[in-house]
Amino acid sequence: MTDAATQDALVIFTPSGKRGRFPLGTPVLTAARQLGVDLDSVCGGRGICSKCQITPSYGDFPKHGVTVADGALTEWNSVEERYKSKRGMIDGRRLGCQAKVMGDVVIDVPPESQVHKQVIRKSATQRDIVMDPATRLLYVEVAEPDMHEPTGDFERLAIALREQWQVEDVVADLALLRRLQPVLRKGEFKVTVALHKGNHDDRHRILDLWPGFHEGGLYGLAIDLGSTTIAAHLCDLKDGSVLASSGLMNPQIRFGEDLMSRVSYAMMNPGGDVEMTRAVREAINALAASIATEAGIDAGAIYEVVFVCNPVMHHLLLGIDPVELGQAPFALATSGSLSLDARDLELSNLNRAARVYVLPCIAGHVGADAAAVALSEEPNKSKDMVLIVDVGTNAEILLGNETRVLACSSPTGPAFEGAQISSGQRAAPGAIERVEIDPVTKEPRFKVIGCDLWSTEAGFAEATKQTGITGICGSGIIEAVAELRLAGLLDPGGLIGSPEQTGTWRCSPEGRTHSYVLHDGTAEGGPKIMVTQGDIRAIQLAKSALYAGARLLMDEMGVEKVDRVTLAGAFGAHISPKHAMVLGMIPDVPLDEVTSAGNAAGTGARIALCNVAARDQIEATVHQIHKVETAIEPRFQEHFVNANAIPHATDPFPELNAIVTLPDVSFNAGGSGGGGEGRRRRRG
Ligand code: FES
Repeated sequence: MTDAATQDALVIFTPSGKRGRFPLGTPVLTAARQLGVDLDSVCGGRGICSKCQITPSYGDFPKHGVTVADGALTEWNSVEERYKSKRGMIDGRRLGCQAKVMGDVVIDVPPESQVHKQVIRKSATQRDIVMDPATRLLYVEVAEPDMHEPTGDFERLAIALREQWQVEDVVADLALLRRLQPVLRKGEFKVTVALHKGNHDDRHRILDLWPGFHEGGLYGLAIDLGSTTIAAHLCDLKDGSVLASSGLMNPQIRFGEDLMSRVSYAMMNPGGDVEMTRAVREAINALAASIATEAGIDAGAIYEVVFVCNPVMHHLLLGIDPVELGQAPFALATSGSLSLDARDLELSNLNRAARVYVLPCIAGHVGADAAAVALSEEPNKSKDMVLIVDVGTNAEILLGNETRVLACSSPTGPAFEGAQISSGQRAAPGAIERVEIDPVTKEPRFKVIGCDLWSTEAGFAEATKQTGITGICGSGIIEAVAELRLAGLLDPGGLIGSPEQTGTWRCSPEGRTHSYVLHDGTAEGGPKIMVTQGDIRAIQLAKSALYAGARLLMDEMGVEKVDRVTLAGAFGAHISPKHAMVLGMIPDVPLDEVTSAGNAAGTGARIALCNVAARDQIEATVHQIHKVETAIEPRFQEHFVNANAIPHATDPFPELNAIVTLPDVSFNAGGSGGGGEGRRRRRG
């Protein structure tokens, strides 16, 4: 009820529940600001931007203890009418800057009118991103120059920002100052500025400006710069939506497949680091241009880029020689976060004033990509003991809970990504991604990317005619190796049996070893896709490195088992948990405790792009994460050797054994042509 003594009206905002009394005639936007209600505005209440839309509710609200009468807000006015007729507005909505409070009222702020709206993530953890970007648009009306009070145009713009938006301390670079006067005059001293303030900035920086009210988009790129692939999300900085996601191969691969070979390239070839820096920057420029085209926006509207990457990629991106990362004590040039001008990194296909934020590294071998995974998955807030594995050319591993978090990096090599595998290829249409082998007939069936049918189902040949069956991707090779083991065609040591030992022609001799023929497309001019003994060895090395890293962290933490496992990385999203465990990639846990987080590093980059406070949060978290160095730890070698067996030489896998029976075979005697039946032993 309107307060009789003061004539003040009660204004209640939903969904925040904030409430307060205001004199009659107070604009809803003013009431919202005074209560700290999250109601957007770019034009500062001038009825131009329509960001301040609200929905008043009328009638009885026993929950709030108010009755809202019809005249609780001033009448629909001409500004609102003009906006609605030109641009359209949902019935029942009002402009918060135009509607004034005339009685007790309940006002809903719809999500699109909230500055700090939440963007719902579609991932296992369902954590939302709260929008709080470092760059925003503000419309201001600047005082015109006056001969009698001589001040510069920039100084009057700064005063306008202070008075109209409470923005103190504004700076602009020379290129912007050169454009300032014509833009101000074109807009009759009304301009829109793109204002940026990073988490370490003392001052606001004007990145761009336009005459009059400008509604063009502000965009940002979240980039996961990996050793093998560069993946980018193009995000709208207004609402966090992802307009396009794209990726390309890291061109540095031509200098070395993995990180250490790239460090060696820099060591052995004077200027090699400069070459690699140039290559990766060119690729990022190309990616920025192509992703902008894909989304149908101008790349010049990209004002921010957030990078997450491992330490070697980090240094090469920044143009720092990574040589120190190749030798103990693996010192980083800097481990802190960085805020830079994009042009300092020669990223020219963006807005010329675009800013870059690079997440902090955890240590010499554990980079900003692991920090991004920690930001996305928040092991430091987990009640139970979680193991997070970001599977890539280098595996980033985090173990911990709300008490303590440990991290390490393990050199798995590119086998999990389909590289160094005889029929390996990147995950693309035509690649085998799922495999099953019948334990009795030893016959395989498989699925390829781009087709939902199994290879044994009717219509498969027709459905895959377009793409062909071209190779095996990372998840396919993991399933293939695990299925070979489950079907008794592969022994715990990783040897493929002979045709005599296994009873199938598919285990065909290849020199002194055997290969399993998964698919022979030669009759139709396609490839013969096999899993060779060399492939098995490459997978064994990769999975041993991964497992040994995880075990090392468990030792350090003093735990024998973990409560749950999160598989991260683009590839982690496609791994079958059962097959990963048969292989012994991950420690033994109940299968339903193995989840996928998708590209968690990329998600972490998006969070840091959309929410400037998250940058402070991860910088603080990184200091609390304890780094374990695998390269110099003797126990790592010990774990690595034991983990070579499939699933493991010494560690028991009770959860796994409860759901599958691993055939107890040994093909040691048969590989070199010695013949004879492989021994089949009974369990127990
Ligand atoms: S604040 Fe811009 S239209 Fe209301």
